[in-house]
Amino acid sequence: MLNDEKKPLTIAYKITDKSLASKLKWFEHLPEIKLIPADNLFKGNDNIPLLRITKKGLFLEQNGQRLFFHPNMAILRFVNIVRGDGDRFLRAVQLGKGDSFLDATMGLGVDILIASWAVGAEGKVIALESSPLIYTLVTEGLENMNNKVFPLTTHTIKKQAWRELSEAAAYIKTIHTDHLDYLKTLPDSSIDVIYFDPMFRHTSTKSSAMQPIKTWSDPNPLKNDTIDQALRVAKRRIVLKERKNSPEFSKLGFETILENKYSPIDFGIIQISE
Ligand SMILES: C[S@@+](CC[C@H](N)C(=O)[O-])C[C@H]1O[C@@H](n2cnc3c(N)ncnc32)[C@H](O)[C@@H]1O
Repeated sequence: MLNDEKKPLTIAYKITDKSLASKLKWFEHLPEIKLIPADNLFKGNDNIPLLRITKKGLFLEQNGQRLFFHPNMAILRFVNIVRGDGDRFLRAVQLGKGDSFLDATMGLGVDILIASWAVGAEGKVIALESSPLIYTLVTEGLENMNNKVFPLTTHTIKKQAWRELSEAAAYIKTIHTDHLDYLKTLPDSSIDVIYFDPMFRHTSTKSSAMQPIKTWSDPNPLKNDTIDQALRVAKRRIVLKERKNSPEFSKLGFETILENKYSPIDFGIIQISE
């Protein structure tokens, strides 16, 4: 549900502690969103999303759904990588230390955290997100991670994951923009790897974990124009994550498919140079 540009989306907010009022700054430069204090709402206005500003982060709630930044999935993937189990995303993007990486569909920021860790401090990672709400929640969450708000854990690899991914979070530059608009501004062959993980055209299940991001994300399909721009800007490869056998792969020119027979998801690759 992306909002009509001319009509801002009204969101009610509640701050749990006065010291958190500065967090409202995250919404100041978003013309798409109008924030009003929840106390000013008339009773029965249940359709208005509620933003809770808490010491643990920003939480967006509506109709029983809750959207917030949670790096748990990235932590889990890090643990698997360190244990030697590998990671399909990393196999698809083939990043090395010092590479530049553009995540054209940031979403909840899981892949970009793994990518930022893989390219290290000497690399360059940019994440684009067109949904103002997802952009704000995730950008604030990444900044909080960097402020070292770690949960307590005695698990050694998890501790390492929190430390290293928090460091990786600090190197991520997030931008609230449409990826086609942004790609048009970039010079030819200026980014090693460009990655797309758009909202799936069709979802077979009504996964409750996916529902909140579906509600607030940009549902539009990838355009051929966007891939044309990515072909101009990418130096090494373009990667697309999609459902297995998705017609999007061939429609957008991804002929090499990295398959896994046990997974409902595959990665399409367009290799530009070695
Ligand atoms: C499936 S999610 C990405 C998940 C992400 N890879 C992760 O690890 O959390 C897709 C995201 O792309 C965003 N998106 C869709 N179209 C976009 C566009 N044209 N420009 C920028 N972001 C876009 C959606 O709003 C959504 O948040």
